[in-house]
Amino acid sequence: MEDSQDTQLTTTETMEENQRLLFAINGERFELSSIDPSITLLQFLRSHTRFKSVKLGCGEGGCGACNVLLSKFDSNLNQVEDYKVSSCLTPLCSINGCSITTTEGLGNIKDGFHSIHQRFAGFHGSQCGFCTPGMCVSLFSALVNADKKTEHQEPPVGFSNLTVSEAEKSISGNLCRCTGYRPIADVCKSFACDVDMEDLGLNSFWKKGDDVDSKSQKLPFYDPKQICTYPEFLKKEHKSPMYMEYNKRFWYTPVSINELQSMLTEKDMRVKLVAGNTGTGYYKEVEPYDKYIDLRFIPELSTIKRTDSKIEVGATVSISKLIFALKEERNDDTCTEGDTVFQKIASHFEKIATESVRNSGSIGGNLIMAQRQGFPSDIVTVLLAVNSKVTIMNAVKKEVLTLEEFLSRPALDSKTLFLSVHIPYLKPTKNGYTDKSDTDTKLLFETYRASPRPLGNALPYLNAAFLAEVSGDNVINNIRLALGAFGIKHAIRANSLENYLLGKKLSVGLLYEALKIIRATIQPEDGTSHPAYRSSLGVSFLFEFLSPLINLGDLSINNFIDSRLTFDNCEKTLLKSAKQVLESSDEYYPVGEPIVKSGAALQASGEAVFVDDIPSPLNCLHGAFIYSTKPLARVKGVNVKKDVHDVVSFQDIPEGGENVGPTVVFDPEPLFANELTECAGQRLAFVVADTQKNADIAAETAMVDYETKDLDPPILTVEQAVEKSSFFEIPPFIDLSPIGDFSKGMAESDHQIHSAEIKFESQYYFYMETQTALAIPDEDNCMVVYSSSQIPEFTQTVIARCLNIPDHNVRVITRRVGGGFGGKAFKAMSVATACALAAYKLRRPVRTYMNRKVDMVISGGRHPMKINYNVGFKSNGKITALHLDILINAGMSPDISPFLPMNMVGPLKKYNWGALSFNFKICKTNLTSKSAMRAPGEVQGSFIAEAVIEHVASVLSIDVGSVRETNFHTFDSLQMFYGGDSAGEALEYTLPTIWDKLMSSSNFNSRTEIANEFNQFHKWRKRGISRVPILHEVSLRATPGKVSVLRDGSIVVEVGGIELGQGLWTKVKQMTAYCLKAVECDGSDGLLEKVRVIQADSLSLVQGGFTSGSTTSEASCEAVRLCCNILVERLVGLKKRLESQTGPVKWDVLISQANSQSVNLSASSYFVPEFTSMSYINYGAAISEVEVNILTGETKILQSDIIYDCGKSLNPAVDLGQIEGAFVQGIGFFMLEEYLTNSDGLMISDSTWTYKIPTIDTIPKQLNVQILNSGHHKNRVLSSKASGEPPLLLAASVHGATRAAIKEARKEVHSWKGLEGSDSMFQLDVPATMPMVKTLCGLDNVELYLETL
Ligand SMILES: Cc1cc2nc3c(=O)[nH]c(=O)nc-3n(C[C@H](O)[C@H](O)[C@H](O)COP(=O)(O)OP(=O)(O)OC[C@H]3O[C@@H](n4cnc5c(N)ncnc54)[C@H](O)[C@@H]3O)c2cc1C
Ligand code: FES
Ligand code: FES
Repeated sequence: MEDSQDTQLTTTETMEENQRLLFAINGERFELSSIDPSITLLQFLRSHTRFKSVKLGCGEGGCGACNVLLSKFDSNLNQVEDYKVSSCLTPLCSINGCSITTTEGLGNIKDGFHSIHQRFAGFHGSQCGFCTPGMCVSLFSALVNADKKTEHQEPPVGFSNLTVSEAEKSISGNLCRCTGYRPIADVCKSFACDVDMEDLGLNSFWKKGDDVDSKSQKLPFYDPKQICTYPEFLKKEHKSPMYMEYNKRFWYTPVSINELQSMLTEKDMRVKLVAGNTGTGYYKEVEPYDKYIDLRFIPELSTIKRTDSKIEVGATVSISKLIFALKEERNDDTCTEGDTVFQKIASHFEKIATESVRNSGSIGGNLIMAQRQGFPSDIVTVLLAVNSKVTIMNAVKKEVLTLEEFLSRPALDSKTLFLSVHIPYLKPTKNGYTDKSDTDTKLLFETYRASPRPLGNALPYLNAAFLAEVSGDNVINNIRLALGAFGIKHAIRANSLENYLLGKKLSVGLLYEALKIIRATIQPEDGTSHPAYRSSLGVSFLFEFLSPLINLGDLSINNFIDSRLTFDNCEKTLLKSAKQVLESSDEYYPVGEPIVKSGAALQASGEAVFVDDIPSPLNCLHGAFIYSTKPLARVKGVNVKKDVHDVVSFQDIPEGGENVGPTVVFDPEPLFANELTECAGQRLAFVVADTQKNADIAAETAMVDYETKDLDPPILTVEQAVEKSSFFEIPPFIDLSPIGDFSKGMAESDHQIHSAEIKFESQYYFYMETQTALAIPDEDNCMVVYSSSQIPEFTQTVIARCLNIPDHNVRVITRRVGGGFGGKAFKAMSVATACALAAYKLRRPVRTYMNRKVDMVISGGRHPMKINYNVGFKSNGKITALHLDILINAGMSPDISPFLPMNMVGPLKKYNWGALSFNFKICKTNLTSKSAMRAPGEVQGSFIAEAVIEHVASVLSIDVGSVRETNFHTFDSLQMFYGGDSAGEALEYTLPTIWDKLMSSSNFNSRTEIANEFNQFHKWRKRGISRVPILHEVSLRATPGKVSVLRDGSIVVEVGGIELGQGLWTKVKQMTAYCLKAVECDGSDGLLEKVRVIQADSLSLVQGGFTSGSTTSEASCEAVRLCCNILVERLVGLKKRLESQTGPVKWDVLISQANSQSVNLSASSYFVPEFTSMSYINYGAAISEVEVNILTGETKILQSDIIYDCGKSLNPAVDLGQIEGAFVQGIGFFMLEEYLTNSDGLMISDSTWTYKIPTIDTIPKQLNVQILNSGHHKNRVLSSKASGEPPLLLAASVHGATRAAIKEARKEVHSWKGLEGSDSMFQLDVPATMPMVKTLCGLDNVELYLETL
């Protein structure tokens, strides 16, 4: 982030009264006389203050990590207004006179944590902790506003006025990649006045069985008056309009339109009118402007006026304020049709962006973005349908235009001012639609939007707003149909359709023809994704709108209401009460206890330090990567147009050093392309500038000169790789021997499927903290590098190789990582190495915090692949032979790809296939190299198994569940497939037990019956239910540990494993306390509090290895156990001697004595797992039920039930978090996340706009998890088993359930075509996005249905 040298903080006396920016942060006064007007609040907070809790997750308003509470004081009303905003979009200059509260402002380690922080910790709502500060602020903002409500009854003491429903929604704009949201929702709900305490999940405050009263008393107390959001001193200060000048850049705040006009006269200046500035989330501001003019202090622009016929909304009125006003409108009038229109508009607007964006984003800004740049606005579409008008002003000329006229003008210039929009009252007697108010004329109004997230924070594939006036005899007297966001310049009215319908009487035939017209009207521009899907949505929307008025014979009205419910998410709460069943054991206390994650409250208060939070050392520079946009080309030159400090490339590698980036086992990937770039997204150079912003801009605007003459065409697909025999070798030590005799198996079969195909695309990590490192040159050619890395040891080696210095000259330090998921293993090496190389060259510290776009473009992600299979099976579903040809797209370098076959085969063997053989090819292509992503290969392998089973069931037309069961392993076949070492003992094969338990705990049979019944009675919504088992083999690796006891008895622990949010430190702490208890000191239960696990330091603890593959926590625990055993042995004798002399000995006394007797109080170990017991299998199963909306393709996950075998869990709370989080990440893979490239292989899913991870509104409405304690496992670490990756595979159950629902839909649609039987042979690819689901349910299903009438 930026350095602070370019800001001047001066005293009041020296300032011009109006050239001072005055504000408060967490009660502290800030006054600036000179600051760059283009700087955002986020940049200021992170670079110029100590309040680093505010995180940069995306920089575009899409993640909530940077949320702060902004408070304003209205001296006339003597009221404070508080609302959350995205600080990444908020210009610092716009907060004059405001007060900012960040999560540090709520509480901290020194003064005490706030109840929000305490409850985040206690409900286990934080894992990596990078999203947590933003979550806390979102919740706090909801609490502050709820507690201002006066119309409610006083909530019980310790609770707020917030309702459960509001509480859940308070975090709907915040992304979390770790937790799966359920525990965070519990934190929020715990404050709600209407919460049922029984509904709250696992927490550290109460025990099962505690009564409701004592539960509420045990919650950390919430005092609504504890935090003052607007300090008194700020109320008293004079707040004149602010003017700021800095390096010939200006910020103005005119207070009248005249004054504004006078500021627009200067030529040759790049002027920007600013309202909320949220538009920069979409249209990034690459070059700063010369002049920023803040429009929000002009009274005419900021008011909402009401007249008899309309409400007039000033341009700078925020979307939130308009929503509020529209809702109010309903309250102060009788409930007429017109007021219902306002209510509907308000509820549509509530799905725009996120609350933080709506709080600052203005109506005028939105309409201008739509007019000028073609932004796919919801506001325009909705207002177009209600016949709104706008007033604009150019120079002194004011014009009132209809919205259509406004949109159809050429793009307005930057000096045209948008003044207001008028929304008419649509009452039948007043708006000119009709004056027959005494008849039964109906005014119909509905709005629609189909988007991947029902609650917003996702642009729609299509939005629409339909207004019609229909007479009692069903004649359409008036109609306005607006459609937008489907890949056209701006929203349109469906004029020809309106004309067609006008004056006609509604009938099935008319509707049928109308649908044809609307389908033809929705013609997205070339290059728009899913054009046919978007048109079909228009058909669905119109059908929903008009059909309730038409007698459709057998169609009950419920069908329509049902489908609307899915759109609107009208249910009272998002989530239902979920069950968490844990079987903890105190055998190894405190191991096995669900203790709170180490440092959780610190993460919530924002005091946990991530790499980018480390203050910049003096003279620190900032780097940004320039990457290739061509897949295979000679790089003739890289031209950086900006004035930067340096541009570092492969040419700067010191003599003897290697151009080496990610590598461990196989050939390295170069740090930078040399003359030839081998993929789009490859690193070409590293721009080094004075600030991160300047480095980013320089990298983004750099011009690269490519040449492709005489080069072969690039290889982008696996098919092309096969054609050119472009492969990486699979090392011989990877055992891919077939099992059984495939030919014999096929010969035994009754049926066969040949050459069936499955394809997978990639998935992006979406860790909330992007890749980051800070390199600081040290004496004697040494380098200290802080890296957000999953493998500091190998990062150290790579840096040393690059700089041609010994390993011992490089110290890589990692304290915590803001989410890794495999993406910060190999990929972090190049980031750290580039910083180190630049620092080495420039002899100055160099850091980088990659922006989201670059991170998404260069980081690779999960492996795409293509699978072909042949399978033979008996008529009862028993599979006798399976052969797979698997082509894995590895990208340009091997990375971990040669290991993928091994990873895939493990979970694939979950069924007894009779005989199994495979042929893998690791394709070398001109794509970014693909790397490990949580359950790499395993998730695909497991899914392939399910796809084969589904296929077989479809061919045989038998229940897919029974095919699964028929092919389950016996313990004998398990041993045959996995080998005796992994399979362990017969009792350890817990899958059959899990399966049976899950069937009964989830009421599978009765719910299946209910779902069947539901499907019989619902045409437009179908339910599906699916159950999936997993077998996931993991292996332990060698890991070091070191435990030292300090003079005061406190204990410091170092381990090879890195804390990524997975709770490794917490388990290690528990293990340390458990093992040292063996000394049997008096009061040794308190040992847990004495343990601190410290950051990984590659020179302090060598051979740290990888943190990956789910087993690092247990391996680190085992390493610690070995250390503790040594210490115990050293201490026990002394303790006994002391005891015999003085009676019971306290730990502190023992340690003090040990010190005086020179006992070595530090022990190191290197845990090397035994070869025969290093691998084992994890078991689990999930049942998911979904509901698919056939009109839109939307899938809602109604319920998921999971049982997972953790052995004797080391910490059930941590493991529960891993299970839920992995499962939800898996839902992202199977249902939502599209990581797409262009035809050159360059990632085009490169932002929060285009890449949608699960949010609170897309997770299962009810997620029940049981952690099975399967007792003693003699070869495991205190009988525990892994939890990090395997549960991700269980999300295939959601995909399977979606497939089942689609099957039901197709059955129904099939019957509409007049065909018998079902249409169950279809392929549902991954991810099963809305367009894909709708396509499989029939893009023309509405018309087909109407044809049956
Ligand atoms: C994450 C995110 C998600 C979003 N999702 C949606 C969505 O789903 N649907 C949707 O409709 N919108 C969505 N938006 C857009 C959002 O509604 C707009 O960003 C917002 O309304 C713009 O208002 P603003 O005050 O911030 O405008 P600014 O950013 O201040 O201005 C935007 C542009 O308009 C100009 N401008 C502003 N006011 C005036 C004026 N009065 N006269 C002349 N020019 C002016 C500015 O110079 C600038 O060019 C989303 C935005 C974000 C960041
Ligand atoms: S960083 Fe501001 S919303 Fe993501
Ligand atoms: S805890 Fe939410 S992103 Fe890691």
